[in-house]
Amino acid sequence: MTTPTVLRPHAEDQYADELAVLAKHDDRPRPPGWRLSPWAVTTYILGDADHPGGVITPKYIGPRRIVEVAVATLATDRALLLLGVPGTAKTWLSEHLAAAVSGDSTLLVQGTAGTAEEAVRYGWNYARLLAEGPSREALTPSPVMRAMAEGRLARVEELTRMPSDVQDALITVLSEKTLPIPELNEETQAAKGFNVIATANDRDRGVNELSSALRRRFNTVVLPVPASAEEEVEIVSRRVAQLGRSLELPETPAGLEEIRRVVTVFRELRSGVTSDGRTKVKTPSGTLSTAEAISVLTSGIALAAHFGDGVLRPSDVAAGIVGAVVQDPVSDRVIWQEYLETVVREREEWRDFYRACRDAG
Ligand SMILES: Nc1ncnc2c1ncn2[C@@H]1O[C@H](COP(=O)(O)OP(=O)(O)OP(=O)(O)O)[C@@H](O)[C@H]1O
Ligand SMILES: [Mg+2]
Repeated sequence: MTTPTVLRPHAEDQYADELAVLAKHDDRPRPPGWRLSPWAVTTYILGDADHPGGVITPKYIGPRRIVEVAVATLATDRALLLLGVPGTAKTWLSEHLAAAVSGDSTLLVQGTAGTAEEAVRYGWNYARLLAEGPSREALTPSPVMRAMAEGRLARVEELTRMPSDVQDALITVLSEKTLPIPELNEETQAAKGFNVIATANDRDRGVNELSSALRRRFNTVVLPVPASAEEEVEIVSRRVAQLGRSLELPETPAGLEEIRRVVTVFRELRSGVTSDGRTKVKTPSGTLSTAEAISVLTSGIALAAHFGDGVLRPSDVAAGIVGAVVQDPVSDRVIWQEYLETVVREREEWRDFYRACRDAG
């Protein structure tokens, strides 16, 4: 259970009502160890306004087929690898999948350059180990080991950032579905329902490239960037409204105009051409992802609510946009200035925005 003071409740707590409704109306077959059928898991992820038990809000906005492939993979003996450029909701989707399938999204290993093998296998409580010798009680299981014992999903974030030898510790787990404990001459066998969802960033490919032995044990699903501007505007407005509510920011009419503008600027700079396809623009070094658009608008709303007149104005988002675009102080600044003078300035309805950006940068 969560207390009201939690800053960010886990998905399974925040959406406990929706999950309960889905479970109640779910008459399709559930794979062993699953809380819901694959069909109901997909409904939880994509939302359903006409569900007989009440509205299910969409969590992930994107092609249905991608979610179906991801969910179906989890019901097989292959693990799921979510791949994509930054900010395409890899982490977000993996959390919600774990919440819907296992009712628990907390069995998480964060991959970093310093992740040790204990994070994937097990460690020891050294006080007990010294006092009592090796025993089950002295062993501290990793999230993966707990997921195996309980038949749940384990999440591995940023798999390609972990050192290769640590990544390879997953091979036995995924192919034999067992984790040997040589010190005790024992093993932990995976209960039904166990599987792994890993995420990896496209841009990090090559940091610690997956070994082919490990890659073969994963089904890869690539999460795309939003296909159209409308889709991206929908994602951003939905998430900005949710974040505003959970941060308890004072109610601000999150101007759809302003959201549209931020999304347009990001998309144009990302794709290197204006939305009407007429003018080429240079692409800055930053990723300008959907996730960054969300945070530019959320900080804009905080500015408007606490220091402005409660209405989101161009000056509230200008600084955020400049900060997101100009990552390299020299080359990106030139690109931004050029975009500002050749594209933004020419747009009749963007006058305020042009002035705000010029003042900000
Ligand atoms: N298609 C989408 N549907 C719903 N939310 C989205 C979508 N794309 C991005 N988001 C939102 O973007 C935010 C960032 O997503 P997330 O952190 O999962 O990205 P990521 O792919 O893991 O990025 P990174 O590679 O930087 O770890 C989340 O708040 C998520 O809700
Ligand atoms: Mg992530």
